[in-house]
Amino acid sequence: MDFLWGTATSSHQVEGGNFNNDWWLWEKLGKIKTGDSSHPSCDHYHLYKKDFKLIKFLNNNSYRFSIEWSRIEPKDGEFDENEIQHYVDMLKELKKENIEPVLTLHHFTIPIWLYEKGGFLNEDFPQYFKRFVKKVVPYFKDYTKIWITINEPVVISVLAYIFGWWPPGEKNIKKAYKVARNLIFSHLEAYKIIKEEQKDSLVSIAHNMELFYPSKNFFLDKIVANYITNLYNFKFLDALIEGIIKRPFGNNEFISDLKNSIDFIGVNYYTRAFVEFHPFKIFNERKKKDAILTDFGYEYYPEGIYEILLSLKKYNRKILITENGIADREDKLRSDFLRKSIEGVKKAIHNGVEVFGYMYWSLMDNFEWIEGYSMKFGLYEVDFKTLERKPRKSAFVYKELCEKGI
Ligand code: GCO
Repeated sequence: MDFLWGTATSSHQVEGGNFNNDWWLWEKLGKIKTGDSSHPSCDHYHLYKKDFKLIKFLNNNSYRFSIEWSRIEPKDGEFDENEIQHYVDMLKELKKENIEPVLTLHHFTIPIWLYEKGGFLNEDFPQYFKRFVKKVVPYFKDYTKIWITINEPVVISVLAYIFGWWPPGEKNIKKAYKVARNLIFSHLEAYKIIKEEQKDSLVSIAHNMELFYPSKNFFLDKIVANYITNLYNFKFLDALIEGIIKRPFGNNEFISDLKNSIDFIGVNYYTRAFVEFHPFKIFNERKKKDAILTDFGYEYYPEGIYEILLSLKKYNRKILITENGIADREDKLRSDFLRKSIEGVKKAIHNGVEVFGYMYWSLMDNFEWIEGYSMKFGLYEVDFKTLERKPRKSAFVYKELCEKGI
């Protein structure tokens, strides 16, 4: 398979018209900082054929997108064949355009009926996800062979169950751990179904990874940086590769069929953080004095992708960069970001890391969760009144980099 050059999006962030999931409820509760609505967003649901032409313009041969569970299973156990057909039509159009799909089965949102049953915390969540995946995989398996079961499971448990910024807004470490454990088993159920239906499939999660450095040369800062790196970057991956769920306190759980339940590693990389020991909160994040910040307030550190990729060599698996991007409304940094990020990928490949693709986040500006439309990640600028897409100058840089190849 050729190196995959693409972009990534997710259903709720680009489609519009998703009124039946937990994020729509969250929006109605006034939790979106800008007051923006996720409808109509980019109306990608209706405009995807035109958007696939934008992908072709970028010299891309791949596209990562997600299906919307709440469209496909609007009621508990009731499936909407027309909505399944919509995604089959999208996959057929990608095939026609000779664009390799990377299909995400779950990207943060869940149907309201499941949210009202406790959502990710419900101990039957893996079984509900299994039923959903079992229903859809037979329809999609003829059009894709690269599958992302769950996007950023650790981010769900941290942002929704520790920080409380995302639905359901809990702040409870025990619940966060339970959610992460449910998502491990949900991934496993999906992995087994896909492998049963499609022997040559490539299945992973899309795992958010960040670089954590000690803020000062002080032993407690170093311990904290190490601890967070292992907890955030490696613990979930260890479970899917070693088959061992390491409990914070108490004995580890070994689950035999969990071992090697991942064919490659999907990595979402954005930034790095400097952390220092804090007596009560465990750690504080500190920005470097001279740090360049993105619009999101993250440190601008594209070269970090090389360190992330090298840190994954120990797993001895292929790697797909499933997301890498920058919030940059003025498009001042994005061209340099792209050049340095892809340089880092090339350097990692040269050092023996088997990277088989790069998906820039994102094809176009979209609904950035609680930030609404204030964060502009798109290679294409979107006018959310007219829905016009306009390539930023960095889009031409990405086009050229994709043409040059890896
Ligand atoms: C995430 C998601 C995307 C975001 C992107 C920019 O990492 O939160 O996968 O949905 O929009 O990362 O923040």
